[in-house]
Amino acid sequence: FQASLTVDRDFDIAPLDRRLFGVFVEHLGRCVYNGIHEPGHPTADEHGFRGDVAALTQELGATIVRYPGGNFMSGYNWEDGVGPKDQRPRRLDLAWFSTETNQVGTHEFMAWCRKVGIEPMFGVNLGTRGPDEARHYLEYCNHPGGTALSDLRRSHGAEEPLGVKFWCLGNEMDGPWQICQKTPDEYGRIAKETAKLMRWVDPTIELAACGSSAYDMPTYGFWEDRVLEHCFEFVDYLSLHSYFVKPPADTSTESFFAQIETNARYIEDTVAIADSVATRKRSSKRLMLSFDEWNVWYRARHGEHLKQAGWPEAPRLLEEVYTAEDALLIGGMLTMFMNHADRLKVACMAQLCNVIAPIMTEPGGPAWRQTIFHPFAQAARWARGDVLRPVVKSPGYANAKHGELPYLCASVVDDAATGQTAIFLLNRHLTDTMDLSITLRGLGMERQLVSAEQLQSADLNATNTADAPDRVAPQALDGVAIDGEQLRVTLKPASWNVIVTQ
Ligand code: AHR
Repeated sequence: FQASLTVDRDFDIAPLDRRLFGVFVEHLGRCVYNGIHEPGHPTADEHGFRGDVAALTQELGATIVRYPGGNFMSGYNWEDGVGPKDQRPRRLDLAWFSTETNQVGTHEFMAWCRKVGIEPMFGVNLGTRGPDEARHYLEYCNHPGGTALSDLRRSHGAEEPLGVKFWCLGNEMDGPWQICQKTPDEYGRIAKETAKLMRWVDPTIELAACGSSAYDMPTYGFWEDRVLEHCFEFVDYLSLHSYFVKPPADTSTESFFAQIETNARYIEDTVAIADSVATRKRSSKRLMLSFDEWNVWYRARHGEHLKQAGWPEAPRLLEEVYTAEDALLIGGMLTMFMNHADRLKVACMAQLCNVIAPIMTEPGGPAWRQTIFHPFAQAARWARGDVLRPVVKSPGYANAKHGELPYLCASVVDDAATGQTAIFLLNRHLTDTMDLSITLRGLGMERQLVSAEQLQSADLNATNTADAPDRVAPQALDGVAIDGEQLRVTLKPASWNVIVTQ
């Protein structure tokens, strides 16, 4: 079937914030311990961090990393993770019913960030703790010196401030599963006072308040409105979290892919709520969004995947094995994120390693790329510059929630600095090829092909495993024809495609 995509250099959405390619490292299962950190592994460095995982994180192209949770954050004492390692306490982690050894804490994690070349995004505990510990943690991290806490940091070997710029004010405080869940008024008040104190300690930081923990939470909307009523003036971002599922009542791939539109609505509805609060407050401020947890997660989500008996250290939890179908949805989701670049500035794939993750490891053994690694890495590599408004003409399919959905999902990002234009394309048709005509107006008549790749698999359930780590991986996309401003290409059924021209 035929489809077309048109962009015009003059019609852009916004500059793309590179922090859309963030990830998440939580003290959960084998994400930290026996994940990014495994002293004794043949590739481990002097801090115990695996070199192969660090290299894969660099290849993934992640720009920012959220830490130390997640649900873990709501019971975390930051003081437990600093100072001499042999004096750090072992604690019960009530988020994941595990034993936390605290052998990785603030300084070790900062060392890992420097090794990988990634910006840290820290969170403060607004579950069991509050504004006082939050301002102390910030002072410990970012104050230059001359106070008890900043000098304590210096005595721990970090003479210079850590310079952590982005801070999350708690995690999923609306969720009944959260350690010390709050009502929206309780949380909104604490978020406001915490933000106030933290900004007084360091006015250069950016702060994200917790939105709902999912679009389908019964309190979604009400939560955002009440929380922002309290803290709108004091925060820069509101968070969104979304895990893509396959409900037993409808496991079709078509419905699975329709979550792209569901999450677009989640973003647009949240913008509408934030702007209505602004209107009520007679404010011209436009709050930005941080989609700081997102991924496919529906298989390893029950029973022993969430909790194991005996308070184990680093148990195997949430170890989702991803399919080719998941990789296609991730690609489509990334196009949707790019197309909301005017309000969406940060997004963190949850998580990075072993726990619902693009990178898997075996202790003492290999590290490999899950299927979802690939669309993320391609987007993080090529999406730079301004997102152009895509005009898509494509036949579609009927969806109960959203009506007619085009088979084609697309985003286009143009980098005036390099002259490169990256085109991201998902063909959601499961059986038919798409003859696609692309018009790049105002981007120059002498375009050359820089790169063209496709990701598709005859078996949508195909996975990458330790013994077959490259079963699902990008291949060359042949047959891209360029004629002036026009490109023509044929996209395979159920395929993710990335074309870069210059
Ligand atoms: O990413 C796994 C968990 O999902 C996080 O800890 C929590 O914030 C969310 O519910």
